[in-house]
Amino acid sequence: MSTPTLLEGGLIVDGGGAPGWPGDVLLQDGRIERLGQRLREHLPAGLDLADLQVHDCRGKVIAPGFIDVHTHDDAAVLRTPEYLPKLSQGITTVVTGNCGISLAPYRTERALPPLTLLGPDAFRYASMAAYREAVTQALPALNVAALVGHTTLRFAAMDDLARAATADERARMAALLQECMDAGALGLSSGLFYEEAFAAPSDEVTDLARVAARAGGVYATHLRSEMQAIIEALHEAGDCAFEAGLPLVISHHKCAGPAQWGRTRETLPLIDQLAQRQDIAMDVYPYVAGSTVLREDLIDGVIDVLLTWSDPHPELGGRMLAEIAAGWGVDQKAAARRLMPGGACYFQMQEEDVERVIAHPRSMIGSDGLPHDRHPHPRLWGAFPRVLARYWRGRGLFTLEQAVHKMTGLSARQFRIADRGLLRAGAHADVVVFDPQRITDMASFEQPEQLSVGVEAVFVNGALAYREGQAAVLARAGQMLSRA
Ligand code: ZN
Ligand code: CU
Repeated sequence: MSTPTLLEGGLIVDGGGAPGWPGDVLLQDGRIERLGQRLREHLPAGLDLADLQVHDCRGKVIAPGFIDVHTHDDAAVLRTPEYLPKLSQGITTVVTGNCGISLAPYRTERALPPLTLLGPDAFRYASMAAYREAVTQALPALNVAALVGHTTLRFAAMDDLARAATADERARMAALLQECMDAGALGLSSGLFYEEAFAAPSDEVTDLARVAARAGGVYATHLRSEMQAIIEALHEAGDCAFEAGLPLVISHHKCAGPAQWGRTRETLPLIDQLAQRQDIAMDVYPYVAGSTVLREDLIDGVIDVLLTWSDPHPELGGRMLAEIAAGWGVDQKAAARRLMPGGACYFQMQEEDVERVIAHPRSMIGSDGLPHDRHPHPRLWGAFPRVLARYWRGRGLFTLEQAVHKMTGLSARQFRIADRGLLRAGAHADVVVFDPQRITDMASFEQPEQLSVGVEAVFVNGALAYREGQAAVLARAGQMLSRA
């Protein structure tokens, strides 16, 4: 049991979006015991000031620990349970299993793309119960909540992914998903954009979404298209969730490729229109570059492409594809073919679109960081501080309270995570203390693995897990969470 802690004299931004107020927060037995002013004079019976760890929070913000709603951290939390890249941003909970790709329920000796986003040879959990047990054993520093990936279900139930699932295979996927929901999963995710799921007709997904819906889960989707056919893809996702009867989250909403730039002027009004009939939200990361596996169809010779990893040429991670291609005397697509399997950052978005999505009241922050890349997209280490540094302090897109809401209260509500994401008495004591003037992401495309500055203290389930200036993780008090 961690030491009771008094956070004194900070600006309390509670995650619900309401104006911050000066006060103290008392953490005890893994929970927020109380909030108020001059709490040292109003301690609960049996608790002495001498028993407390006191943190002077003058000039600092006290906020709920950030919830990273879009991650591919399924294997990373097992392999590197300290998980400094996330914890050091103030993140206390990660939602795994996004984009149709989850570690459970699937066992294989050799994972194929796009499952390799989770790292090689990591698929060892035939059920969500087994994955839950593995996370608990690993003692991660932050909390983990899992979605179940439609593409993973396809790998588990089908031998040929280039077609629709048969009735038998659908039944098999539904049974696997049911087990996961029974074991506390948050819901279903899909990545219809990826070849291994693209052949799935809408009703294959809708049937699975019904299983998640009956259990009280959500549906998060990497749309079938974020390019030319994005409007059709949004309608497909909206109809699927509406028919199944569950809340929808559009993953990493973007309009990708120069031909689509500016089209958030169409997509955001459509999302607002859908919101009149159904529960719909989206997540977003604060960069103009996306990142995924190396794919020829994302390379147009116009946008910049940065290689993040390559199996045949690991030494080229961190180099621009155009330079590599010029060095080899071939075009970029040919160079990409030689580098596969690999990954890349694609500078495929327009800043104005990114800002419009981040500023939208239905957007939450999700890093989409890729923890196994040799030269990762900087969002893995910097996404959350960057929203505060660049989009609140720098561009003034929203208030501090709204920025925090997008990282905490809204996220917990949309993903059905109970008693987290808000500072209130009785909630779990996931708390971040940061300096609002100083907080800044340091990770860049050139040097992606850099600690942010200004994140001063991070508490997970009441335990001090991270302190600025101390390179080591101080406590591993994370838990595997269940759907509310
Ligand atoms: Zn995705
Ligand atoms: Cu993703």
